[in-house]
Amino acid sequence: MVAIAEVGKRRLTMQTVEIGSETRAIRSLDWDRDRFDIEFGLQNGTTYNSFLIQGEQTALIDTSHEKFRQLYLDMLLGLIDPAQLDYLIISHTEPDHSGLVKDVLALAPDVTVIGSKVAIQFLENWVHQPFKQRMVKNGDRLDLGNGHVLEFVIAPNLHWPDTIFTYDAKTQILYTCDAFGMHYCDDHTFDEDLDLIAEDFRYYYDCLMGPNARSVLSALKRMNELPEITTIATGHGPLLHHNVTELVDNYRQWSQEQAKAETTVAVFYVSDYGFSDPLSQAIAHGITKTGIAVEMMDLKSADPQEVKDLVSIASGLVVGTPPMTGPDAATAQTALSTILAAAKAKQAFGVFESGGGDSESVYPLMGKFRDLGLNPAFPPILVKEIPKEAVYKLCEEAGIDLGQWLSRERSVKQIKALDKDLEKALGRLSSGLYIITAQQGNISSAMVASWVSQASFKPLGVTVAVARDRAIESLLHAGSSFVLHVLEEGNYQALMKHFIQRFPPGADRFQGIRTYPATNGCPILADALAYMECEVSSRTECGDHWLIYSTVKVGRVSKPDALTAVHHRKVGNYY
Ligand code: FEO
Repeated sequence: MVAIAEVGKRRLTMQTVEIGSETRAIRSLDWDRDRFDIEFGLQNGTTYNSFLIQGEQTALIDTSHEKFRQLYLDMLLGLIDPAQLDYLIISHTEPDHSGLVKDVLALAPDVTVIGSKVAIQFLENWVHQPFKQRMVKNGDRLDLGNGHVLEFVIAPNLHWPDTIFTYDAKTQILYTCDAFGMHYCDDHTFDEDLDLIAEDFRYYYDCLMGPNARSVLSALKRMNELPEITTIATGHGPLLHHNVTELVDNYRQWSQEQAKAETTVAVFYVSDYGFSDPLSQAIAHGITKTGIAVEMMDLKSADPQEVKDLVSIASGLVVGTPPMTGPDAATAQTALSTILAAAKAKQAFGVFESGGGDSESVYPLMGKFRDLGLNPAFPPILVKEIPKEAVYKLCEEAGIDLGQWLSRERSVKQIKALDKDLEKALGRLSSGLYIITAQQGNISSAMVASWVSQASFKPLGVTVAVARDRAIESLLHAGSSFVLHVLEEGNYQALMKHFIQRFPPGADRFQGIRTYPATNGCPILADALAYMECEVSSRTECGDHWLIYSTVKVGRVSKPDALTAVHHRKVGNYY
């Protein structure tokens, strides 16, 4: 069954598919391809997946985003009389999954809402009406009859502290909400084509799960205690069925890499307050790009001892200003006082304002950290309006700055650790002087590149190695465009000097530089010797760099007789 609605320019459709015995997926497909819509990494639209299990009793797992209200409720009413619903299982209370809980409660006033303690408490504050409820702990079971024995797995921080997974013993389906998801919208219910989704799966992990790597490992451990899992029914994107082992192994491997990082930054946010959560994720994503681990903690549900413990092991602290009023203000303010009491001189810190007028002010908070002897790693981030893509990019760059500052000593050690003969030999590899520019919507970036090479004739293709902690990296995913510039021998200093400087987070890289637009929308540097318009085909992880393979679409040389600038290095352990 498929329902389609056109809402302005945005295409919203519904899909329902049987995914197991007496079990249906109800998928809300949001085809909008804008970046930075609901989460800062959104590229290929998304889906909000809800599930209906009809044993002797009936359970609905999650709902949908409120933008799907009519479509979702129409589809639900076509499948079942909602008054017959026995249980509404809330995997996680973020509004993209629980946005229609009030509507379902109106249609099914006798339904019992099941969730973690944190989730039920949140819903009580939000729904403002009594409802039947059951708080579940790890290992609790619910028998729906017909063999559908559900087991609940507590999976905090994936992605909010309230998250639970639900395992159905009959269908061997594990319902995981955000975990193992991806922002990818198409008609395929399952993960038939791994090549198509692999990059989105990874990017989603990097943005949402990587900053909670230790929580991912805890959840994986609990998943190991379950019987066989044949399908992972995620809350976003295709369900995992054909590649469960491989994709779960990916989560394990990526999380183990993150978790073994020697340095940790604590990022404190308030899960449902203003824009605290997505802003904190963008900062955390920037930090993890530098190889530093992140532990995220929700100020409104954090235990003071856990706050204290985390602050004591962290090398850096990032704090989103909490609310001054409202139901969670007192808890969040207590947590903030605990952070300030436990903070140590020399820790790096950064603060961001998360909720507009009702927030604790960012400047006094910054002053308190300074007075305690902590080092500011980036300027305070103030967000007065609904954050747009440039703000999320700024946050990511602020995170990169913090991570690079904390890892500077380790980087120097690594440079010094290389064998002297080897580093000289590596230095004899030829490298060049190139500049890459990219633009997507209102955000643009640029970087000096050394490791560029032609890689194929058919199609014409080049590779560029881009360090994982480069700001421009997030603009270089498959399908993205950029311009590769070749600099001129004897005439490259001005451009090099400009683009090699360290820019503050969010700074315009092109101020004072002569540019004109390429056909792919990216800036062309007027003073470069040659340029090529490129489209990213694929990217491969190579240690601390991404190797970006791109096809070349259009190119031009400005001075036919001029020579290409080359970069002679003495050693190969830095550019
Ligand atoms: Fe998809 Fe954290 O909600």
